[in-house]
Amino acid sequence: MSPQKIIIDTDPGQDDAVAILLALASPEEIEVLGITCVAGNVPLDLTSKNARIVCELAGRPDIKVFAGCDRPLGRDLVTAEHVHGKSGLDGPDLPDPTMPLAEGHAVDFIIETLRAHPAGTVTLCPLGPLTNIATALQKAPDIAEKAAKIVLMGGGYFEGGNITSTAEFNIYVDPQAADIVFKSGIPIVVMPLDVTHKALVTKPRNDAFRALGTQVGTAVAQMTDFFERFDIEKYGSAGAPLHDPCVTAFLINPELFSGRHINVEIETQSELTMGMTVADWWRVTDRPANATFINDLDADGFFTLLTERLARL
Ligand code: BDR
Ligand code: CA
Repeated sequence: MSPQKIIIDTDPGQDDAVAILLALASPEEIEVLGITCVAGNVPLDLTSKNARIVCELAGRPDIKVFAGCDRPLGRDLVTAEHVHGKSGLDGPDLPDPTMPLAEGHAVDFIIETLRAHPAGTVTLCPLGPLTNIATALQKAPDIAEKAAKIVLMGGGYFEGGNITSTAEFNIYVDPQAADIVFKSGIPIVVMPLDVTHKALVTKPRNDAFRALGTQVGTAVAQMTDFFERFDIEKYGSAGAPLHDPCVTAFLINPELFSGRHINVEIETQSELTMGMTVADWWRVTDRPANATFINDLDADGFFTLLTERLARL
């Protein structure tokens, strides 16, 4: 089978970085057509710099990295330096990138790429706020028919929220954008906190990254070392959740994951529950299913896959 063509839309972020590394390490299953950056964990100038740092770490300065939207559609930008550090990629000491940003706006790249490929052949993989994807859909509604699917990290239902008591960070930053995406009609697979909180980098798993003895293995171990102190303090969990790599792991081996095809809508009005992913898990409404909401994974299988693939870089 030929590899799936994807666009990674991202706000690196240590876990975004690991998701990108996993994709670049898996050319049999994934062909990265380009990386589009958005403001999220840190402002756009840093996310678009960090994405290039990660490509160079992977030995892939040929990947096209585009800068996109620098703020949410209708709200002020909320960032997460308290989790990811000032640079967004705190932990390892990695050199500034030498590869330039690709010319043009990320939103135009998304539109042009979807239009240039046969319908149903390009998958969008958002790992941050959905501003770029929603802007592309607003500017070029025809692309909804072109995308194969969207596999995204965002939301949470049984786990509640991680930035407010009901909202997950990516959706909370730009609920209006998320609403547009969830109503787009494009098939969506959602990796919410319900599953990512089961993808925990325990000490043995982090030791396995470090034991690779490569620059990538060491950098990934240092990244997870950095942001796990936050999650361990907050949740009392056994390690940092690797949110975004669930998206790229799903593309490589969907059998590692399970969930339900249900209706998911986004709260865009109430300040109390702004950005909540209202998931009809029990199918108690007659609202039509629009997303596959993942709630479980084979965590050992996930970490075995990730470690084995990172070893290739
Ligand atoms: C999501 O928010 C960011 O902090 C992470 O990179 C991930 O995409 C988790 O809520
Ligand atoms: Ca992210």
